[in-house]
Amino acid sequence: MEWRGAAIQNDGMTASALPLIAIDGPSGVGKSTTAKRVAARLGWQYLDTGAMYRAAALAVRRAGIELSDREALERLLAGLDLAQDQGRMFLAGEDISEAIRSQEVTLLVTPVSADARVREVLVDQQRRIGARGRWVVDGRDIGTVVFPGACCKVFLTASPEARAQRRFLELQAKGQSPDFAAVLADLLRRDTADSTRTASPLCKADDAVELDSSILNLDQVVDWIVQRHAAHA
Ligand code: DC
Repeated sequence: MEWRGAAIQNDGMTASALPLIAIDGPSGVGKSTTAKRVAARLGWQYLDTGAMYRAAALAVRRAGIELSDREALERLLAGLDLAQDQGRMFLAGEDISEAIRSQEVTLLVTPVSADARVREVLVDQQRRIGARGRWVVDGRDIGTVVFPGACCKVFLTASPEARAQRRFLELQAKGQSPDFAAVLADLLRRDTADSTRTASPLCKADDAVELDSSILNLDQVVDWIVQRHAAHA
């Protein structure tokens, strides 16, 4: 990937809207994997907005600034050079894809992504990237705030236990020895933070269709979205 309004039918599809699929939902529900696969099937590009907030958090951490220091934050945001290519996240040309998954960044991204000014800057970048459509974009506020005119909006959910179980297995597959209770507690912490913040809290767009993936596998979710998009294209 390179970074260089409509009649609402209230069923997750809008007529003559931007050809863009918005996938929102809580942490650990499989949005990124789903969005990547949907994009590959359609020959569209994929934008991971969570990775952008994580990159901003890493930049804040590296600069050693406090969010309360608004001047320093403003300077940092003015020079924030983000890019995504082939599923990798870059900060000023450096591949930070692994660094943004660290526990420090996962903790810091909660306050950073709740900052209204950070959101303003990143939402502006996201809108410029997706302006011409043919993108699958995942996040928390894509259907509600970033691309309210997206032709297809999906709100992906799964029970906290199902999400924690998936995350637990992923960590095990990476050779780690996770504690299930800690994984679940971290997900619940992020759910609460994402849904209760003032700036663009996580919520389903009125015209998004909710898909509970607790009892579906990845292929079923991807097929469902692709078929739904084809049926309404
Ligand atoms: O999807 P993720 O876990 O990589 O997202 C990282 C953080 O960024 C998460 O705390 C929620 C936040 N986020 C957001 O506020 N808005 C988005 N559009 C995407 C992510």
